[in-house]
Amino acid sequence: MPKVPAFHIFPSAKAASTALADEISQLIRSREAEERPTVLGLATGNTPIQLYAELVRLHEEGLSFRNVVTFNLDEYIGISRENPESYWQFMHSHLFDRIDIVPENIHIPESTVLSKNLESYCSSYERQITEAGGIDLQVLGIGRNGHIGFNEPGASPEVATHATELNSVTIDDAAQAFGGATHVPRRAITMGVKTILTARRITLLAFGTGKAGIVERALTPGITAKVPATYLQSHHDTTFFLDQEAGAQLA
Ligand code: F6R
Repeated sequence: MPKVPAFHIFPSAKAASTALADEISQLIRSREAEERPTVLGLATGNTPIQLYAELVRLHEEGLSFRNVVTFNLDEYIGISRENPESYWQFMHSHLFDRIDIVPENIHIPESTVLSKNLESYCSSYERQITEAGGIDLQVLGIGRNGHIGFNEPGASPEVATHATELNSVTIDDAAQAFGGATHVPRRAITMGVKTILTARRITLLAFGTGKAGIVERALTPGITAKVPATYLQSHHDTTFFLDQEAGAQLA
């Protein structure tokens, strides 16, 4: 039965990020008490920066990531890890270099897989998620076009990790960071909607006026491939963490 995700509107992006960081730290601590690892699915982009800053702060106060395994949602194809815009760089500078996570427990899709190996690489990424026990908590952002990960408008809910073409809105949104739209990679590897929906809990962060319209659409009953975030309506435990601006069009 489709179920529109729950949402909370916080006074600020910082308050929303702190609330999600608290939820993640409680999850890590409770699973550690059971001597089980915590498997997190992670996003990049502007939106989760404050979340990662808060997790770093909690680490400085004693939260350990030794028992945490992470899987990133996506990565551009065709740029090196060293490229400042790679998601590998993003994750290491905002989070991984600043906490005690075991490097072998970090999984980020490889940006340099040869075309002929992409399919088997994506299957192996999917297999690693399964072997880790599946994702306990997935962090998502949302694109202005309703994408989650790089599952762009038109994406099927049946597809797991795969290589995909970026949508023109996504390319425009990345243009500034890459010094112009022509420099933005055209392809990426992304967890599929199918992968995302297998997470036991899904959390989506959205901040700012620019996200208000798409957040309202994602939370309006009705699942459509035109707005991939509406697939979250078929998940049993999804919560949107919003600031006032992103939640402004919700009743
Ligand atoms: C990033 C990702 C994307 C972003 C989305 C929002 O790993 O999967 O779906 O979450 O494009 O990006 P920002 O946060 O920059 O607005």
